[in-house]
Amino acid sequence: MKSRLPGFYELPHSERLRVASLFAGLTEIEASPLGHFGILSPELADVFIENAVGTFSLPLGVATNFLINDRDILIPMAVEETSVLAAASHGAKLARAGGGFTCTATDPVMTGQIQLFVDEYTLEDQATLDANREKLLAYANRGHDALIARGGGAREIEWRWIPEIKSIIVHLHIDTRDAMGANIVNTMCERLASMLAGLLCCETGLRILTNLTEKRLAKAECLIPKDALNSHEYRGVDVVDRIVKAWEFAWFDVYRATTNNKGIMNGIDPVLIATGNDWRAIEAGAHAWTCRDGTYRPMTKWSKDLSGNLIGSLELPMAVGTVGGVTKLHPTAKSALRLMGSPNARELAGICCAVGLSQNLSALRALASEGIQRGHMGLHQKNLELMTKNRPRTGATKI
Ligand code: MEV
Repeated sequence: MKSRLPGFYELPHSERLRVASLFAGLTEIEASPLGHFGILSPELADVFIENAVGTFSLPLGVATNFLINDRDILIPMAVEETSVLAAASHGAKLARAGGGFTCTATDPVMTGQIQLFVDEYTLEDQATLDANREKLLAYANRGHDALIARGGGAREIEWRWIPEIKSIIVHLHIDTRDAMGANIVNTMCERLASMLAGLLCCETGLRILTNLTEKRLAKAECLIPKDALNSHEYRGVDVVDRIVKAWEFAWFDVYRATTNNKGIMNGIDPVLIATGNDWRAIEAGAHAWTCRDGTYRPMTKWSKDLSGNLIGSLELPMAVGTVGGVTKLHPTAKSALRLMGSPNARELAGICCAVGLSQNLSALRALASEGIQRGHMGLHQKNLELMTKNRPRTGATKI
């Protein structure tokens, strides 16, 4: 049987699953979990993706102890990894002892790129673009009255010449308010490209948003009183030093930086998933941003203040939305946002950074003292015991 399946997308869900199972020789028991629909109905699954056969379940948990900008908040997290919620909640408890997390975010400004092919970049091109700045912005905003009424819209236009690819790359910066904004940006860029091509008498290339949303940043900061890090094995003052040293290790070593940052995304991705946000976009932007000086660095910063307390911060591009798209349609995402008190996009961006910072704090504290395995393995052991109890049956009839 070939994977070339014309008309597959038009089949009913059960039929798609039957064909796919036949292709792979799955038994009924093996195929059944692929065709499961839960809170996400078959109709909604079809709205989100093509060729749907079922939905995929992940555990959804609630992280506790978070105090963000003086507000107590519970954090929904969808993730499969043991210890992640325990670590996030533990980090938040430590941060709480120092007043919790302080979060800030820039305006939600996304950037779209328009590629214009020109043989050379002349002074005349530059003058034409300069002279038409306002007209270009007005044209980009045309037809986006609802966005403009909400205080958003195209804000700024800039460009640069890349001689190697004989292209002028125009950057259009758009405030997309509480939307993640991918559709708004791409629509504006596609329209504006034709006007630009007309002005410069050139061909256009790509017209697409960049996920390196460096004008849409969020930041979380915290102070951990040294005494909050006391344990029966370690003195808090020593733990502060050990955490700072662990962070320095990541600053100077890309192997450690990668693992450090994976741990940060352990906190951020589950919040993005639970709230229906595009975690691939945030991952891409976060990793690119973190090597903006040419070297891949830890995303967080940890240092000691004059009183010996631990100071931490995390700043990242954070293009999250709280309206439209999956956030609006997915019943679980909608309720997850309600659970957090219906934050706007900038607040959610700050929350994501707070969870990432908290996750990193917990990991570094454990790594720099007793090691990660003691706590992790305790929880992991519980899961293993459960798994052995629920080992799946095999060997049933093929369909
Ligand atoms: C495991 O998923 C994440 C950690 O490896 C992060 C870190 O090392 O900082 C514990």
